[in-house]
Amino acid sequence: MELRFLGRAGAKVSPICLGNMNFGSAACDEALSRRIMERAVEAGINFFDTANVYQKQVSEEILGRWLAEGGPARRDPLVVATKVYGKVGPTENDRGLSRRHILKACEDSLRRLKTDRIDLYQCHHWDHAPIEETLRAMDDLVRAGKVVYWGTSNFKAWHLTEATLKAQASNAPVPVSEQCPYSIANRHVETELAPFCMKFGVRMLPWSPLNAGRLSGVYRKGKAIADTPRNKSEAFRKALEKNMDLLEGLARLADEMSRPLSHLAYAFLYRQPHVASVIVGPRTVEHLEEAIAALDLKISDDAAKKIDELVAPGSAPDYIGW
Ligand SMILES: NC(=O)c1ccc[n+]([C@@H]2O[C@H](COP(=O)([O-])OP(=O)(O)OC[C@H]3O[C@@H](n4cnc5c(N)ncnc54)[C@H](OP(=O)(O)O)[C@@H]3O)[C@@H](O)[C@H]2O)c1
Repeated sequence: MELRFLGRAGAKVSPICLGNMNFGSAACDEALSRRIMERAVEAGINFFDTANVYQKQVSEEILGRWLAEGGPARRDPLVVATKVYGKVGPTENDRGLSRRHILKACEDSLRRLKTDRIDLYQCHHWDHAPIEETLRAMDDLVRAGKVVYWGTSNFKAWHLTEATLKAQASNAPVPVSEQCPYSIANRHVETELAPFCMKFGVRMLPWSPLNAGRLSGVYRKGKAIADTPRNKSEAFRKALEKNMDLLEGLARLADEMSRPLSHLAYAFLYRQPHVASVIVGPRTVEHLEEAIAALDLKISDDAAKKIDELVAPGSAPDYIGW
């Protein structure tokens, strides 16, 4: 798999990042999570993403046990990313991007991940904590060797601009990447974030590339819907119903290429110059196979034009959710 720069970092990552959010859920136990991780490594994926809040810390623990059991031969080739921000304790200070919380959360993640360093430590969401405090905490963690690079998630372009310029002014490390909701059906980040990325060298790590599964190709007009863990909620079903024409239009375009819609959805993101790596969220090995199989799909200019007609650049239907 051809590697790309992780945004402003010198390290390189695969165009697919394995998202670990499902690991430890009722539908994806530790044994299945391991099979997915092993298949990912076998296919050449070197980039894994988790967070200190996924499955109440179990996602980090599953990854940590698997890394430790494999020793340096398993750990060292990987770029391991996790996140800080979500509430993990009973008090108001057990969350956010304060120096106090970041330093504690980093130690906790290192312990669960059974590693001495986090390759990419991401601010999971923007916070009201002074950005100078967050920058200094990240700088200290980088200098201590506990964090290699830091990045952001769900930041707006102005959040990232402020963080980048203030980090540069104080000789602190700059954020290298931004993890954002981005898919063929949700193109909002193309308006401000994409130009920011191209100007400053930051690259996106899109999350929910299948729009939580709606772009998997499973959902077609007139076809019965089998229950899955993510599609049972009322909100999911409502968004599905309202988006059926759009999903059908995209699925027909994929049909013309003799591919499932999932391939088109992944390939759309793989080709974007402002994207470093697409964070896929498989619950099964078969889900992961689809993301890998989509790597060879080239979208022609004509097909790209048809995509733009269905979802205009920078737009998203109001009801799409993420
Ligand atoms: N930074 C953030 O705020 C944030 C937020 C969300 C996610 N993330 C990261 O991004 C990763 C991916 O997000 P996501 O899980 O929302 O991605 P996604 O690919 O949009 O959705 C994944 C879900 O889609 C369904 N699916 C996936 N492949 C499929 C296939 N080939 N056929 C049929 N259904 C398929 C599964 O749903 P069912 O299980 O229902 O079948 C799966 O759980 C996460 O693991 C996490 O690392 C980050």
